[in-house]
Amino acid sequence: MTGSVRRRNPLALAGEVGMALSMVAGRSQVARAIVGEANLTGHDKAADVGCGPGAAMRVAPARGVPVTGIDPSPVALRMARILSRNSPAGQVTYSPGSAEHLPLPDGSVTVVWSISSVHHWADLAAGCAEIHRVLAPGGRVLLAERLLRPGASGHGFSSERAEELCRTLTSVGFTAVGSHTITTGRRKRIIMRGERPAAGSAR
Ligand SMILES: C[S@@+](CC[C@H](N)C(=O)[O-])C[C@H]1O[C@@H](n2cnc3c(N)ncnc32)[C@H](O)[C@@H]1O
Repeated sequence: MTGSVRRRNPLALAGEVGMALSMVAGRSQVARAIVGEANLTGHDKAADVGCGPGAAMRVAPARGVPVTGIDPSPVALRMARILSRNSPAGQVTYSPGSAEHLPLPDGSVTVVWSISSVHHWADLAAGCAEIHRVLAPGGRVLLAERLLRPGASGHGFSSERAEELCRTLTSVGFTAVGSHTITTGRRKRIIMRGERPAAGSAR
């Protein structure tokens, strides 16, 4: 654990540990479903924004795709590193950061996903613009949230909120923007997606 984590308020730290532990339980089914929606190929390089303890971070390398996990929580990143210790060498990297400030160079990945994290972002437009920046031309983004009832707010997105996010994706330059729902276990998830136009293509 880093010094910065040790100096933190013990109650806040306990809350963060509890949240990270709750995120470990039962996440692999969701992770497999969302990563499956990304249709990975051997040419992909991926980023998982708001990776938490990293369930999806263990799915992508098993499919031969290197992935960088980004999360603002030092506790989640520490747990993710421990849980990924048996991943194939060089396939998994973790970096502290947020959607609004991604620690990745321009055009450095071909696919970005974010699972159950977007509802935490402070600035959706800034997060979408950052994802557009780090994607190579032709790259794709998948933002997955639990589907909430119309008008509901909380840990997920209603379909109205998903439509709003799709408009934000379009406004920062994504094309082929849309959303669809899938069912994992007893829950419905909504996946909002878009593509960074390929070099030379009209927007
Ligand atoms: C409910 S957890 C989901 C973790 C993981 N993606 C999963 O599906 O198990 C939400 C994660 O989003 C992270 N988060 C919060 N604010 C964020 C931001 N602005 N940018 C990126 N991630 C953020 C949290 O630290 C947390 O790890």
